Amino acid sequence: MQKFIINGGRRLRGELDLQGSKNSSLPIMAASLLCCGECMLRNCPNLTDVYAASRILNCVGCRCNFFDNNVSVDSSVVEETTVSEDLMREMRSSIIFMGAMLGRTGECTVSIPGGCELGPRPIDMHLAALRKMGVDIRDNGGSIVCKASSGRAKGAKINLAFPSVGATENIILCAVTADGETVINNAAREPEIRDLCDFLMNCGADIRNDGESRIIINGKQQLHGCEYTIMPDRIVAATYLSMVAATRGELILTNACIPEIEPFLSVLEQTGCSIYTSEKKIYLRSGSRLRAVRDRIRTMPHPGFPTDAQAVLMAAISAADGTSVFEENIFDCRYRHTDALIKMGADIQVLGKVAVVKGVEKLHGAKVEATDLRGGAAMVIAALCAEGNSEITKICHIDRGYENMEKAVSLLGGDIRRN
Ligand code: EPZ
Repeated sequence: MQKFIINGGRRLRGELDLQGSKNSSLPIMAASLLCCGECMLRNCPNLTDVYAASRILNCVGCRCNFFDNNVSVDSSVVEETTVSEDLMREMRSSIIFMGAMLGRTGECTVSIPGGCELGPRPIDMHLAALRKMGVDIRDNGGSIVCKASSGRAKGAKINLAFPSVGATENIILCAVTADGETVINNAAREPEIRDLCDFLMNCGADIRNDGESRIIINGKQQLHGCEYTIMPDRIVAATYLSMVAATRGELILTNACIPEIEPFLSVLEQTGCSIYTSEKKIYLRSGSRLRAVRDRIRTMPHPGFPTDAQAVLMAAISAADGTSVFEENIFDCRYRHTDALIKMGADIQVLGKVAVVKGVEKLHGAKVEATDLRGGAAMVIAALCAEGNSEITKICHIDRGYENMEKAVSLLGGDIRRN
């Protein structure tokens, strides 16, 4: 089991090139299943979740290779419609392969994805939508057996009770080759949804209003392959901006996505660090102790404050001047990182979905265990601005979403090593 050893207290400064988006790469890799031909995906991040998606594609008969941040997928032949339980369990978001497999073959068998570090991860909205599209879905002792009654899903009008990212993705993946028109009301508007739609339109899909809350899709018989560049990762950007701000340093982030990260930047600016953007670059300078965030930080669907940035911002302002209040509205158990931050000296009180963070003068090093992907990143941030040494175990969580974090932190002057 690998761990990070970090000696905190240094100001981080330098330039980082932002990695491609994990939450774009995964649905787009699933979408490549729909193409009868070859796809070349560029700017794919080097992550364990991307490798897991690659294994799923290979297990259903595609030929998928990862090299130099490119993923090549040849989906000319799809032989298998069952994804084994162990492959499904490797990655929570493997459930989005369901829509893609149905869109390509009209059937699929996947396992019910277990809960994860963020709490139960129900898929009721995914299943209800697919049933409306004429897919017969049966629970066969832990497996979900899906089959389009007429061999091909049918277009339908779908109203989502909540703008679920995964459910929106699964519906799109099934609808682009369904028979007829699909309308999704209350669709998720996360930037990764637009990226998925842009990829699919490059493959010949007929999608309108992508990125808005009412998406209209006209099903096509077949899609062709294409070459596509994945968008930058806005959550990784939020992570490194929070990290450098917390250590009172300076950062130039290149190949960044500016409009997509505005909901986060508008909150980070309240801590007193100076941020400006131009083209695809974000410049941050934070020469002094951060201030607490005045307004309540409510996580909301995009374009609200992203839930994935909650933990990393909390770590950054744990030693700020004043008290900040978070409200986690997306996931049931997304404060699991607070125990570790408290062990490092933070003063945090969790009351249901509210967390009150009273800034302390200084954090101190400690031995902690990463609880989940963004919680683990938050612990790295806290360790880098703490006094003394920290040890973070179970960093496999971090490797799911951050490409070689120790290399990026070392480039910025941080004292970190992987053991
Ligand atoms: C995606 O997860 C992201 N994962 C998450 O990022 C992100 O936090 C989340 O969207 C919200 O933005 C990927 O894109 C791979 P949801 P997803 O469906 O699709 C409930 C990270 O750190 N819900 O929008 O699973 C659900 O339990 C990860 O990169 C139902 O109740 O998120 C949750 O409370 C973590 N029934 C809420 O909706 C359903 O059928 C939002 O879930 C579906 C969801």
